[in-house]
Amino acid sequence: MSKFSLFFAPLLTLCSFFASATQTIAIVGAMDVEVNNLLPEIEQHKAVQIGQHTFHTGTLRGHPVVVTRSGVGKVNAAITTTLLIREFKAEQFIFTGIAGAAAPELSPTDVVVSNALVQHDVDLTVFGNQPGLMDGFDDRLFHADPRLVQLAQQAAEKVVGKDHAFTGIIATGDQFIADKQRVAEIRNEFNAMAVEMEGAAVAQVAFMFNKPFVVIRTISDKADGSAHMDYPKLKQATADNSIAITLAMLAQL
Ligand code: ADE
Repeated sequence: MSKFSLFFAPLLTLCSFFASATQTIAIVGAMDVEVNNLLPEIEQHKAVQIGQHTFHTGTLRGHPVVVTRSGVGKVNAAITTTLLIREFKAEQFIFTGIAGAAAPELSPTDVVVSNALVQHDVDLTVFGNQPGLMDGFDDRLFHADPRLVQLAQQAAEKVVGKDHAFTGIIATGDQFIADKQRVAEIRNEFNAMAVEMEGAAVAQVAFMFNKPFVVIRTISDKADGSAHMDYPKLKQATADNSIAITLAMLAQL
C-alpha cells in the first residue's frame, strides 16, 4: 500500500462515518398507531406543520431524525417522502409499520424487512408491461439499500428471534387485502411476503431522489378472510414491535 493510501483510506472512512452520523434519517409510519410511541423517545423535539402533515424533528438514539405519520395509501406516502427530502433534507428512510402476510408460512407478529418493493395495483399490461411495472421504469421492483436491510434484519432478529424475522419482497397497493384468492394472486405474481399500502410509494420517491430506504413491517393479519378480525386486535402490539426494531436498528446505524 502506498503512503498516500495509508494516510487517506482511514481518513475517508472517518469522514464517511461522520457524514452518516449527521445525516437526517426520516422515520415514517402510515397511521398514528405506527409512530406515536416513537415520539416520546425524541430529544429536542419540535413539531413542524406543513399542510395536513406534522413532522417531528429532533434526535433519536443520537441521530438527527424527522418522524412523521404519512397517512394511509400511496399518494399520502409519496407526498410525505417528497416533503421529507425537500423540506427536511432527509438522507435515509426507514418505514415502520404493519402489514398483511402474503407468504403462507408467516403469522401475525412475524416481521418482514423489505429487500425490494413493488406496486401490485399498477396494471399497464395492455401495453405489454409486466404487472406492477410503471411507465418510465425498467424494473417493477424498487430495491432497498443493502446496508439498511442488513441492519434492519439484525435488529428484527434481536427483537423477535431468528425464526420470526424474514427479508423479502413487500407488495404495496391502495387496497386493504382481506381475500384468500387475491392475496394468493399477489404472492404468485410478485413473490411477495407481505402486503401493505405505502412502502413502494416511499421506495419510488426515494429511488427517484437517489436516497437509501428500508421498510420494516410486522405482520398484523393474514390478508385473507380473517384479516378484518385479527387487524384491530393486533395493530397496536404489532406496530409497537416495528418501532422496537427501528430503535434497535438506530442504535447500530
Ligand atoms: N396493512 C395491514 N394489513 C394489511 C392488509 N391486509 N392489506 C393491506 N395493508 C395492510
